[in-house]
Amino acid sequence: MAYHTPVMLNKCIEALQLEAGGVYADVTFGGGGHSRLIMQNKEIKHLYAFDQDKEALDNTIDDERFTLVQQNFKYLKNYLSLYKAIPVDGILADLGVSSHQFDEAVRGFSTRFSGPLDMRMDASKGQSAADLVKTIDLQPLTDILRNYGELRNAYKSAQAIIAYRNENEIVTTEDLKKSLQTCAPRGKENKYFAQVFQAIRIEVNQELEVLKTMLQHSLDSLKPGGRLVVMSYHSLEDRLVKNFIKSGNFEGKIEKDFFGRALVPFKMISRKPILANEDELARNPRARSAKLRIAEKL
Ligand SMILES: C[S@@+](CC[C@H](N)C(=O)[O-])C[C@H]1O[C@@H](n2cnc3c(N)ncnc32)[C@H](O)[C@@H]1O
Repeated sequence: MAYHTPVMLNKCIEALQLEAGGVYADVTFGGGGHSRLIMQNKEIKHLYAFDQDKEALDNTIDDERFTLVQQNFKYLKNYLSLYKAIPVDGILADLGVSSHQFDEAVRGFSTRFSGPLDMRMDASKGQSAADLVKTIDLQPLTDILRNYGELRNAYKSAQAIIAYRNENEIVTTEDLKKSLQTCAPRGKENKYFAQVFQAIRIEVNQELEVLKTMLQHSLDSLKPGGRLVVMSYHSLEDRLVKNFIKSGNFEGKIEKDFFGRALVPFKMISRKPILANEDELARNPRARSAKLRIAEKL
């Protein structure tokens, strides 16, 4: 099975506006689809790619102009500075999980397979989803399900998980689903479980926190005129990206200087998010929720 089918491949690379002698970062290497197309440009000087999942290392590109760093992208600036690569000409982020991660039952990301309840993108660090579900209190669990999964019955669902774990172990994806049997709306079970899994995955990987750090690092690492290209797959991520591009903060609040001029760090290249076209949607259902935003550092 293919590791991952890249989404909006050409649009993302066009958005980077590759230049001869340019240095770029792909902070979500995955199967390397986007990186490979960048590397086809023989004029660029170097591409630094990041992925925290060690399984992505098998997809590396054999080229002296390419470096793959197995690290969380929250350390983007640290590693780019270590490689003396700052300022860079463009940064690409294709957020979330790869199809490979979803399709491997042992990773515990998918509601479709029975497997250990893990969900860590970097399986060597931090607590797994099973550890989280085992120890978390009612209120924070409710908040996670409500805020990250947008569940309507977050409190009831959190209560059900806690009641179940008092009698049984929750160590597999099946256990988690079983604990929630009475909460899943009839006929909408798949959507409900997908929302629960998304919520727990976001918490386990601290996805919103690391995204914020990476966006801040990208601003510090790009040269003026450099491009930031970000593709997100749910509204929580997209809101952070949109606000940051618009204002340089995550609330989207534009600060003004003494003369009333807006202090904004980026020029928005596309006011609205770019979506995959019908043709791509027909070929790749994963592209359905993708939103691409492009900005240029001022
Ligand atoms: C949607 S896939 C990227 C697919 C890639 N563009 C391609 O064409 O194959 C996202 C990848 O980013 C990685 N990832 C997600 N969050 C990360 C983070 N905070 N730090 C490093 N890698 C991350 C995941 O492990 C996954 O492999």
